[in-house]
Amino acid sequence: MRSWSSNAPDLPPTTAVRGRLVWFRDDPFLTSSDNALVYVDDGLLICRDGEIVAAGDYGQLVATLPPGVTVVSYRDKVILPGLVGSHAHYVQMRIIASYGEQLPEWLQDYVYPEESRFVDPAYARPIAALFCDELLRSGTTTAMVYCAPSPESVDALFEESVGRGMRLVAGKVLMDRNAPPAMLDSSPEQAYEDSANLIKRWHGVGRSVYAVTPRFAYTCTSRMLSAAGELWRDHPGTLLQTHVSENVREIQQVAELFPRPPYRDYIDVYEQHGLLGPGAVFAHAVHLSKREWRRLHETGSGVSHCPTSNLFLGSGLFRMKRAVKSGRRVPVGLGSDVAGGTSLSLLQTASEAYKVGALRGFPMDGVKLFYLATVGSATAMRLDHLIGSLEPGHEADFIVLDPAATPQLDARTSGADTVDDLLFSLAVMGDDRTVLATYIAGRLAHHRDARPT
Ligand code: GUN
Ligand code: ZN
Repeated sequence: MRSWSSNAPDLPPTTAVRGRLVWFRDDPFLTSSDNALVYVDDGLLICRDGEIVAAGDYGQLVATLPPGVTVVSYRDKVILPGLVGSHAHYVQMRIIASYGEQLPEWLQDYVYPEESRFVDPAYARPIAALFCDELLRSGTTTAMVYCAPSPESVDALFEESVGRGMRLVAGKVLMDRNAPPAMLDSSPEQAYEDSANLIKRWHGVGRSVYAVTPRFAYTCTSRMLSAAGELWRDHPGTLLQTHVSENVREIQQVAELFPRPPYRDYIDVYEQHGLLGPGAVFAHAVHLSKREWRRLHETGSGVSHCPTSNLFLGSGLFRMKRAVKSGRRVPVGLGSDVAGGTSLSLLQTASEAYKVGALRGFPMDGVKLFYLATVGSATAMRLDHLIGSLEPGHEADFIVLDPAATPQLDARTSGADTVDDLLFSLAVMGDDRTVLATYIAGRLAHHRDARPT
């Protein structure tokens, strides 16, 4: 998975940046935030050939730099692992902020008409480019993404992400009922073949990872869910993504299609079709029972918490406390779920996650919020050995946050008396203006203050 394709940008031999380094060495939901956090006040991060080779004290590391390497100084700025989003739909970029509906109507009225346009590569390509550029501008270096049902929509996204050198996870949406006929796969066998061809074409090209993507149980027959399970099993290294338990009416509809017995609940529908396990990421998970949380834990499955979407679509309030329960911990990341979500920014997403936590009696500090947006998502996607950390050996995707990005943020952060408080204010008040720079594989991929060319 470390092959770099020919149209990916060249890797700079050595990059060195100086600033306040932040990453995580442990899980702040299971240990104290102080134990979990690594903070180097005057730090140096050294990257070679796309990977981090050293991260630590500037004074100690500067002498190890090869001759001729210029250190880029971001003093007073905060250097973090690139943010990792575990759920988004690039094909919904143009229907963000569509008014007034809950999930079932919103899908029919806005989502399906828009996604049906992605059979046309000329329509898909610029939106894929916009999506990748907006991720970089928001400080998101990896996202787990749904395309449309059309293979062309997958080609368009991977062409753009590979061209930018990004580690992107994506797949073709699978569905064979309860959506407009033109968008349905003609059969589970055809859906398998189309997906297998896309896996051959894209999985492992550059840093691309393919995700088998049954949309959700409501739009898939039992045979289609089985085909998805088979596809995932037959292609080791691919991931799996779907939606679960987002909206109360959706849950009722799924229970009618997959009744009890033999299905105990929504998660059991997926489990009985071979869709639970390490590398499976379930989006939303707002209304899960304790039994369902336990099965997610026991199978090593992950969850994407999408607070801006759950609020915008009136879906409900996620229960983080259940997800991170000691002895039953489920890997949880953050997802924008654009376009159910209202912003691609994982800083704004973290801010809403805090507020949902507050409403559920589970407020989260700055360490927890940034953990969710980096290691949390990476772990849910089983990519935490590659991304989400500044630890040497990880890929050199990182961001530079500016605590003085706006006068108000400056006024707040200049009074922050702990690193946790600084991180909390960045998470709660931050947005794309806060992201001064985004590096992909050690190469500057976005700078907020760069002049347009
Ligand atoms: N459930 C099935 N499809 C979708 C989708 O596109 N967005 C959201 N938020 N939920 C879904
Ligand atoms: Zn979604």
